[in-house]
Amino acid sequence: MTILVTGGAGFIGSNFVLDWLAHTDEPVVNVDKLTYAGNLRNLSALEGDARHFFLREDICDGSRMLDIIATHRPRAVINFAAESHVDRSIAGPEEFIQTNVVGCFRLLEAVREASNGFSDAWMSSFRFVQVSTDEVYGSLTPSAPAFSEANRFEPNSPYSASKAAADHLARAYWHTYGLPTVTTNCSNNYGPFHFPEKLIPLCINNALAGLPLPLYGDGRQVRDWLFVRDHCAALRVVLERGIPGETYNIGGKAEVTNLEVVQMICDILDELRPDPLSGSYRRLITFVKDRPGHDRRYAIDASKIESQLGWYPRVAFRDGLRQTIEWYLDNEDWVSGITSGAYRDWIRRQYGSGE
Ligand code: NAD
Ligand code: TYD
Repeated sequence: MTILVTGGAGFIGSNFVLDWLAHTDEPVVNVDKLTYAGNLRNLSALEGDARHFFLREDICDGSRMLDIIATHRPRAVINFAAESHVDRSIAGPEEFIQTNVVGCFRLLEAVREASNGFSDAWMSSFRFVQVSTDEVYGSLTPSAPAFSEANRFEPNSPYSASKAAADHLARAYWHTYGLPTVTTNCSNNYGPFHFPEKLIPLCINNALAGLPLPLYGDGRQVRDWLFVRDHCAALRVVLERGIPGETYNIGGKAEVTNLEVVQMICDILDELRPDPLSGSYRRLITFVKDRPGHDRRYAIDASKIESQLGWYPRVAFRDGLRQTIEWYLDNEDWVSGITSGAYRDWIRRQYGSGE
């Protein structure tokens, strides 16, 4: 038995591969294009491990996907591969449509075609897990109930619109072709290997470098945060017990404003690595121009996965944030290794200064 993971060199995908192989000996075929966000160093612990088979491939290449699926005959495909940064989707949506929509479509088609050569038993136990986001549901007012699986999709950014389109395709492939797809809609993840342009790692690394901690607009936007290893555990449960055609919300029960997140980072760093220049890293907090169309609040009602599949988040936000900061302090070379020109150009364009 084998599973196929796409995007397994990215933030969540690499955590998933490591977590998977810590729980089972079932091999993983890992397909990743290695864009700016993919990093094989995330998987260095698996060097020489025969259970991990890496292939540098683009999920938009349908004939390669068919070939890989026909050759390896995975019992499941878990699709993490995506362009994932909202701000980049605003600056240039094209890649998001290609990978997130066309890529998901090609992958579904490859599985559908490959399944013609497989037995009915294989097909009935097979799962295609589409890893998606709570952002497909749009934005909540401060007092609105949290997103449930029954909420309609109201995506507001090119990123969330592209993920919503892929979720619709996954649903359609179950209803039309009987391909057993399951979709998960998860809140904001944080933890080790998070690419340093996202809010939490950006602020940890900027604080350590004495650079501004940029908060968009008034910093009062609310996100629900989930420790990445809790997400990996949820995906394992969905893979084993999720019902084809269903969608499952996954969340951390941790609604926090961006300002509070950044203040907590400063306070933990003040304790673990005191700022030599002043009393607190909070002095670096800087309010900058807001993101266009910035969603105000996300919140997840995860009662379905909790009651039906028995998963619930284990790591409290404050504990997970401390673990994450400790990881970044212990792995400064991982961050400094991300020195591609594309990353430096992005930081310059987005914030108008050097890194
Ligand atoms: P990431 O940007 O860190 O990683 C994406 C990975 O996909 C990278 O390794 C990249 O090289 C690879 N990739 C990109 N285009 C590809 C292509 N065409 N073919 C093959 N590989 C390709 O993203 P992430 O934060 O790890 O997110 C993983 C998935 O989880 C995404 O689908 C995202 O929408 C979803 N998600 C993310 C979050 C979050 O907070 N990060 C929350 C909910 C859902
Ligand atoms: P991000 O990590 O980009 O995730 P997402 O947009 O998918 O939620 O951003 C998290 C929140 O932090 C979001 O409300 C935007 C905000 N943010 C800032 O205020 N400043 C920043 O420099 C970044 C990158 C994000």
